[in-house]
Amino acid sequence: MATPNNIDPSEFRRALGSFTTGVTIITTRSAEGEPVGVTANSFNSVSLTPPLVLWSLAKNSRSLRAFESNSHWGVHILSAHQEGLSNRFAKSGEDKFLGVDVEDGAGDIPLLSDCCARLQCKTIFRYEGGDHIIFVGEVLEFDRSELPPLAFHAGQYALAASKGKPVSFTSMQHDEPELTFGEDFIGYLLARAHFQFYAQVMQHAAAYGLTDSEYFLLTILAMRDTQTIEEVSALFSYTGYHITRAMATDLQQRGLLAAHERDSNVEYGLTDAGREVTLRVLSAAKALEIDIESKLGANESFALKHLLKTLIAKTDPGFAHPWNRA
Ligand SMILES: Cc1cc2nc3c(=O)[nH]c(=O)nc-3n(C[C@H](O)[C@H](O)[C@H](O)COP(=O)(O)O)c2cc1C
Repeated sequence: MATPNNIDPSEFRRALGSFTTGVTIITTRSAEGEPVGVTANSFNSVSLTPPLVLWSLAKNSRSLRAFESNSHWGVHILSAHQEGLSNRFAKSGEDKFLGVDVEDGAGDIPLLSDCCARLQCKTIFRYEGGDHIIFVGEVLEFDRSELPPLAFHAGQYALAASKGKPVSFTSMQHDEPELTFGEDFIGYLLARAHFQFYAQVMQHAAAYGLTDSEYFLLTILAMRDTQTIEEVSALFSYTGYHITRAMATDLQQRGLLAAHERDSNVEYGLTDAGREVTLRVLSAAKALEIDIESKLGANESFALKHLLKTLIAKTDPGFAHPWNRA
């Protein structure tokens, strides 16, 4: 175990980084009336009654004088969308408030918006803490929202999702785990989640007499107005389905598609009936998404979407995205 004399500061910083925190921006106003703010993850709760919080500020921070001269400050617990703002307030000397909308809080402190929570505080104690000053404040007022929070772990921004109870699907014990595809196999989890969702969407499509690939063709045309069959095929190459001219002709005969000629190419678009059917199935799919989000929770849905997008980006062989213009 390391003793105070042989502690390596960078290793110590790394060890502290394994304590996952939220991210705050703490603001005040200087004696000259300028808005001042710093990104801080040293924030913590102290007491409920009376309502007390603390945070610590490096002694070499340019903002120190303002926080020592002004008894009022505002803590902004940042939301997952505020990573850019966090970076901006972590850079010394920048005009941190340039273009940022602020409201006036207690003691004229500048308050930022779109946070998970805001606490308006008044310093009641100040302590020396090595190379930092510790501020303990009494909370005078606060407000909160349901936005997903921004977290910080191991020197990087992170997302917070509740873990819930451990989930296990099988009672089967594997004696030779290296030879088996267990329930943690990512391929199984992705495929299972996909099929459970799509089986329900396709039931709605089937109720209108649509096959999977016909439904895909119609959804592309709902997003993009008119396209050639080759363009639609390219946009759906990630599914492995083949969109054919025969399929489009059949949908045309069923009154769901109309064909137009442009520059000697045949382009297809939805008829009113085609748009109506497509929007009905799409709204059923959207209702399923809302149901999933309510089962998972807002933070968990946000984290899941973020992780899926990251996975798609990191494993993408170069497929087009349906809503990107070529
Ligand atoms: C996620 C994160 C957390 C931080 N937490 C603190 C903190 O708790 N205390 C501190 O003094 N600096 C902290 N910093 C660094 C300050 O935000 C940074 O030094 C800032 O530039 C100080 O601004 P100033 O010199 O204009 O006062 C943190 C930075 C980041 C990115």
